[in-house]
Amino acid sequence: MTATNAVAGAAERRYPIPPADGATIDRDAQVILVRYENHIVALALACPHQNAAVKWLPTDGRFQCSKHDSRYTPEGVHTAGRATRNMDRFPITRDSAFVVVDVSRVFRSDQDAAGWAAASITV
Ligand code: FES
Repeated sequence: MTATNAVAGAAERRYPIPPADGATIDRDAQVILVRYENHIVALALACPHQNAAVKWLPTDGRFQCSKHDSRYTPEGVHTAGRATRNMDRFPITRDSAFVVVDVSRVFRSDQDAAGWAAASITV
């Protein structure tokens, strides 16, 4: 994945809008950018249970934690396993053909369910 820091500083990452459904991982920024059914979300790579890296399983169309196998939908909703909340989401906005991700903070679904749900753009 190609990412460039915005003029505003390293707290923002810009990515081209993904042309098709799927997940791409920016390990440097610990961001997973997901396009799924005309929505884009930016998920934290770290599992909300104990921060292990979450893997994308393309043939199953879901995420799974590499440590204790918690499972999540493509949009980060927790469906099984030891985690007790959804994958964390970064704030995301659209700038023409790009998405801009604020990597300085995340929305936690257990602390701000409305903010978490709103951290998505429609394409
Ligand atoms: S660290 Fe992911 S389920 Fe435990």
